[in-house]
This record gives sequence, C-alpha cells and structure tokens, in this order.
Amino acid sequence: MKKVITYGSFDLFHEGHYRLLKRAKALGDWLIVGVTTEHYDESRGKMNVIDSLMDRIENVRKTGFADEIIIEDHEGQKVEDIIKYGVDIFTVGSDWTGSFDYMKNYCEVVYLERTKDISSTMLRAKKYNIIRLGIIGTGRIAARMVPEVKYVSGINIDAVYNPHIESAESFAKHFEMNKYMDNLEEFYEEVDAVYIASPHETHYEYIKSAISHHKHVLCEKPMVLKRSQAEELFLMAEENKVILMEAIKTAYCPGFNQLLSIVRSGAIGNVRDVEACFTKLENPLSRELTDTVYGGSFTELGSYTLLPVLKILGENYQDLEFKSQTAANGLDIYTKAYFTYENAFATSKNGLGVKSEGQLIISGTRGYILVDAPWWKTSSFEVCREDRSQNEKYFSKFLKDGLRYEIGDFVSGINGFDEKRFKLTKGESIALADIMERFLAERNNIKENRGVSDD
Ligand code: CTP
Repeated sequence: MKKVITYGSFDLFHEGHYRLLKRAKALGDWLIVGVTTEHYDESRGKMNVIDSLMDRIENVRKTGFADEIIIEDHEGQKVEDIIKYGVDIFTVGSDWTGSFDYMKNYCEVVYLERTKDISSTMLRAKKYNIIRLGIIGTGRIAARMVPEVKYVSGINIDAVYNPHIESAESFAKHFEMNKYMDNLEEFYEEVDAVYIASPHETHYEYIKSAISHHKHVLCEKPMVLKRSQAEELFLMAEENKVILMEAIKTAYCPGFNQLLSIVRSGAIGNVRDVEACFTKLENPLSRELTDTVYGGSFTELGSYTLLPVLKILGENYQDLEFKSQTAANGLDIYTKAYFTYENAFATSKNGLGVKSEGQLIISGTRGYILVDAPWWKTSSFEVCREDRSQNEKYFSKFLKDGLRYEIGDFVSGINGFDEKRFKLTKGESIALADIMERFLAERNNIKENRGVSDD
C-alpha cells in the first residue's frame, strides 16, 4: 500500500485545497492529511487563521479524500510522521517548491501545481475589508508598530496623527505614508481603527474620542490610570460596538499563552507564588524619570509584571502593598508590589533606577516554572521539579518585536471572531487600571507629606 501525506491550515476551505487533496489521494492508496493547530500557525507567523481547528478538520474530512487526519502542532513533526506512519510520498502545493527537498532522505517528495488565483489569504481579504489603521502618537513604540503590522493580513496603516504636524509629517515620510494630520476629525475620516501610542495621560481622552467616532481602539499600556475610566471606556466600546484592547504584547504572544496553559493544566500543582521582575536602567533625564506626575518605574513597567500575577492568580487578591524607593523628585526608581491571595502570594518588582535579574517564577505545590529575561517576550521556559531529571524545557517563537500577535488578535476581534481570543480580558485591564490608581494615590500622598512639588 502506497502511503501519501500532506499538510496545511485549510482555512476557509477552498477549491485550491480540494484539488490539492484530490491529486494527493491519486498519488497513492492511503492519504494522511495533517491539519495545523492555531498555536503552531501562530508560532510560524500565520496569525489570521479564521476557522477553528475542528472546522478545518471537518472540511478536510468532508472531501472524502483523507483516509486519516492528524494534527500538526510542532516544528519537525513532518519527518517524525513520515517515519512513524511509513509514508512513501510527501506532497504539497508548488508554492512550497524546494522547501521540503530535505525530506527526500526519507520519502519521495512531490510538489503539485498550485491552483491559480485562490488562497485563504485572498478569501480572508475579500470576506473582510482591509482595516484602515491610524496611529495616534509617533514615538518609539509607534515606530516599532509599523513594520509589525505588515506581517498581519487584513490591516493596513493609512494615516498618522500628532498634534504637532511636524512630528506627524516626519513619521509619515520616514515610513512612506501619505496621510498625516494634526486634525483629529480629518484623521478619523481616513481610518476604521486606531492604535494609540501617545503619552499615558492622554490615552483616556483619545480613546473616548476614537470610540465616539466608532473607531476600534488598540491602546498602549497602561491604557488608563483609573478604574472608573477603564470601566467607562469598556462600556462605551460595547455601546458603540467597537473593540477596545490594551496592548501588552506579552499577553498575546504564543509562548506566554503556552505557559499559561501549562500552569492551568496543573503541571506544577496549585500555584502558591508568582514573582515577576522587570528592570531597565533609564537615563535620569528621560521622560520616564522626569515626568513627576506619570513617570516612574511602576507606571512604566508595572503592566508587564502585573500581567502574570492577574492571569495566574486572578483579580481577587485580599491585600496589596507597595514599597518604593524614590528619587529626589518623588518618582519611584524601584517599586515592589506585594499581593496576598487566599492561598498564594505574588510580587511585582519594577526598576528604572535599580537593576535586577528579570525573571518570572511561578511556584506551585508540585514544581515551579522559571522564565528567564526577557520573559515578557516569552520564547522559552522551564518546568522544574524536585527531581531535576524530570525538568522540561519549552520553546516558542517570539518574532521580532512581537507586536504582530496583538495586532492579529485585534484584527480577529474587529472581524467578529471568537471573543475568547481576547487574551487580555476587560476585567484584567480594569484590574490593571485599578492597581495603577492605587499606586499613584499612595505615591501622591507620600509626596504631599514630604512636600515635593510636581514642577
Ligand atoms: N494550495 C493549492 N492551491 C491553492 C492554495 C493552496 O494547491 N490555490 C495548497 C497549498 O500549496 C498546500 C495546501 O493547499 O499544499 C494547504 O495550503 P494552505 O496553506 O492551508 O492554503 P493557502 O490558501 O495557501 O493559505 P494561506 O493563504 O493562509 O497561506
């Protein structure tokens, strides 16, 4: 019996897929079809798969060509499968010509002529209009966003806004964009969604204005610094039927999500402690260390270190205490936030003027997970046990600046897919704003008592 194998995402099942499977089946007697998981697709940079794995499998099954359907979930699996199933022929479409020649050591490799003028990418673009994204604020992070958007299909940057027209213009010129403005009304006419990367304290007003113009919003962290503002904005987004998402890149990347799944599966037992540290020595003259109202290490880095705490232990902590070391201007150069939960502790440790090892450690009753710096760009972690020989290392891709993952989820959300894909929930964003508010209130009290002025 001649065994044939082929692989694909088979998203929005189309004629090209059908014809490929038909010809693959005709190459032998038994056809095995490998369908990719969402996680695997994400890790290889394919962010917009629309149909669920179950639907994609069902569509392959319905063709009647597959004798066996398997799931492809990791790099290197193809060779494993070929050996395991005793495969004679590996086949894929001609768009892959040459890419799988290394398989010739194991079986025959056949590239089948790709069907012209059809692909999942084309169908996704046709089904959903390309989202016109506008950028508000033209700082460092906005500059990092531009190249990342190019990796996500279904979205395009169309305009940039800055109240200072020269900044808008030089940003637009640098990235070869035609539309730049200092007038918000004109800007909103050109876009369906906005990415807000302006200074923290301006987020609230921009989000409010964008939502009231029915624009979807992806806003840099910390989204807002008050619980009531976060609550109000999420309600407003719901009423206006638009998506509001806080851009904490870690929350959307594949590695961090794999880590969360492993924690939830009970691999380290019950979680009793989460310790997250992020420090970055900043120039004392930087905005981060001179903006005496909104700067400081906690507002700057806290969104990252609070994320694993809230994701793993939840929003219902019993007690929260801040300890800070401050500069003469009253800004915290180092802050530790101590959480007490019913059965666990957590620490978020942040430094702009103090350097430490940036680790994430999640301790449980059966073991712990260690994620080395930069854990906020999760690309590997280790599940550690009492018996070290039982330790397991996991690896995942974190491509370039890793902003493409949040953009991918933003696009999915706008196109109405599966709200569960929101890897950072509304409740978690509100809890983050609440913690920031508590921190700032405490810092202001301390400053007032010490008589430090904001100027
Ligand atoms: N395929 C084909 N003809 C097409 C589209 C796809 O023969 N017009 C083949 C691919 O070469 C591959 C298989 O179908 O062997 C599954 O491809 P997949 O990547 O799932 O489909 P695409 O439409 O290429 O998806 P995307 O646009 O997301 O890359």
